[in-house]
Amino acid sequence: MTAPTTPVVELAHAGFAYEDGPEVLSDVCFAVAGGRAVALLGRNGGGKTTLLRLLSGGLRCGAGALLLDGAEVAYDRKGLTRLRTSVQLVVQDPDDQLFAASVAQDVSFGPMNLGLPEEEVRLRVDGALAALDITPLADRPTHLLSYGQRKRAAIAGAVAMRPRVLVLDEPTAGLDPDGQERLLETLERLRAAGTAVVMATHDVDLALRWADEAAVLSPAGLRTGPVGELLADGALLDAARLRRPWATPVARLLRSRGLLPEGARGPRTAEELDALLARTG
Ligand SMILES: Nc1ncnc2c1ncn2[C@@H]1O[C@H](COP(=O)(O)OP(=O)(O)OP(=O)(O)O)[C@@H](O)[C@H]1O
Ligand SMILES: [Mg+2]
Repeated sequence: MTAPTTPVVELAHAGFAYEDGPEVLSDVCFAVAGGRAVALLGRNGGGKTTLLRLLSGGLRCGAGALLLDGAEVAYDRKGLTRLRTSVQLVVQDPDDQLFAASVAQDVSFGPMNLGLPEEEVRLRVDGALAALDITPLADRPTHLLSYGQRKRAAIAGAVAMRPRVLVLDEPTAGLDPDGQERLLETLERLRAAGTAVVMATHDVDLALRWADEAAVLSPAGLRTGPVGELLADGALLDAARLRRPWATPVARLLRSRGLLPEGARGPRTAEELDALLARTG
């Protein structure tokens, strides 16, 4: 057995309450290892956004700690800069993130703030725009972009920081099906290059298809584990007020009809189901 690697970033027994509010999260343990794809699921108001803001240092844990490479993060300028070069959050609404006049200016802001040489900034901006498929939009004013384009521009800004962990708050909400597919392809490429991605989503089908691990917030707390296992747990899904992913009963049906070998992963998209049916006649 290989020794467990230290997570890149980790909330250890974290608790948090907004000022004058009740506790939103308590005793949350959430670790992100390098290169993993993690889906964070839970009901509206369940604390997903709060958890992501704790993980990226925008909010400070009331109890417990935030660890980067196993060491507790100091919430001073130096500590937060270190955190930001490793962990980047993209908030749900791109209008809360974009502020510069043009797309390229916005995307260059983070790398410039790191004090990188101009040439390096340009390389990173070009790379991030290409990764998000928005190179032709580089000089466009951000306020003239469509919602989906603004969303991609906001993600490009985080990607240009070359984080080890990219944290996305409902990145597919408001994207058309093609936009969702293209975003998933982009995330796959980032992941192939070693970037871990944490994504809050309400879409259980997307989570099952895309993620390695799930983290499910329910009133009982946070449960983490392999995505296939957690999203097959009906009681957990009910507690978190999540739908059942369609792929779980489909795989059961295919197995019972002898169309899917025991132990083989079932289809997770309509296209995969089509392909399997075509193969099995
Ligand atoms: N700035 C704030 N001040 C006070 N309370 C807040 C603040 N932001 C969120 N809350 C409360 O904290 C709780 C968790 O909210 P949070 O936004 O983390 O949930 P969420 O899981 O992201 O929900 P959604 O699915 O609607 O995005 C909610 O009860 C919310 O009302
Ligand atoms: Mg939220």
